[in-house]
Amino acid sequence: MRITIRVLAALLLFVLVASIFYFSSRTTLAPVWLDNRGKPIQAHGGGILKVGDEFFWFGEDRTQGLDPTRKYVACYSSKDLSHWTFRNQVLKLSDPENLGPGWLVERPKVFYNEKTNKYVMYLHLDDKSYKFARVAIAVSNTVDGDYHYLKSFRPLDMESRDIGQFIDDDGTAYLIFESRPTKGFVIAKLSDDYLNVEKQMSLVPKPLEGGALVHYDGLYYVIGSHLSGWTPNSNVYATSPSLEGPWTEFKDIAPPEKKTYDSQSSMLLKVVGDKTTTVLFMADQWEPKALWDSRYLWMPLEIGDGKLHLPPPKSWAIDVKTGVVTYKNRLWN
Ligand code: DGJ
Repeated sequence: MRITIRVLAALLLFVLVASIFYFSSRTTLAPVWLDNRGKPIQAHGGGILKVGDEFFWFGEDRTQGLDPTRKYVACYSSKDLSHWTFRNQVLKLSDPENLGPGWLVERPKVFYNEKTNKYVMYLHLDDKSYKFARVAIAVSNTVDGDYHYLKSFRPLDMESRDIGQFIDDDGTAYLIFESRPTKGFVIAKLSDDYLNVEKQMSLVPKPLEGGALVHYDGLYYVIGSHLSGWTPNSNVYATSPSLEGPWTEFKDIAPPEKKTYDSQSSMLLKVVGDKTTTVLFMADQWEPKALWDSRYLWMPLEIGDGKLHLPPPKSWAIDVKTGVVTYKNRLWN
């Protein structure tokens, strides 16, 4: 009898703790973000390229029911960063390096090369056990595709998994990549035609992925997440006056127990308006068992004087002309 009561009490305690954990980890689940067709935006692990006054959002298209032998990248455009028009499934790739079942494409990032007048897409290309660890390149004459596969390689002969993109104020293009064996977070300059990774600027000796960079008010701010697969962790940042370092110690971008509000960094987008400059934190809330239902957490950052802080998520809108953000007095939309 005594044992039964103890077992029951233990069971009850387990259910209580599990439900507290489940519900607290779900409080920041972002709503589904719909495109102009009323379909959920499929641009996971994404990046943004601004062309004229339009923003183009590229990301992994994880729509259910797509041909499982192919991997897809979708592209959306917007003039206000809020309403997105589906443009095209810009890449429909079939296993270009014979990696076999489970091969994958992640975190597409597109750069525009003025010299060649080409749009150059970088991708993380891998096999199902993430051993291939290379970047791939696909190229297009127009921003919204179609993009054609060119090649894959290991940047600077290093393993490369998560990638991030950075275009400095002078227009120079950089790739950020995670190199696990060197436990490093690499920032490297692209070649003139963007078809190669040419020069290491920094190897930040820290095992981080989901790399993103922004140049704000004379300082570089780099963000990354710890290595915990699809599970969220507390993303961190460091700063440096130069891309070559030295970088400060890494600090949490939000209270560590919030686990970046259940998200993982994908890009920092600087919106330079005529009144102010706003830096947006773009992140994914992964749903590993239903990747198509992964959500996006985008929030304006509090940034300056070497400090960066991700405030609790709430609903906001930006005037891209002025750069000014207005907040709505409610959570999400
Ligand atoms: C974390 C990465 O940031 C994602 O892009 C993805 O590769 C997962 N790991 C896979 O576990």
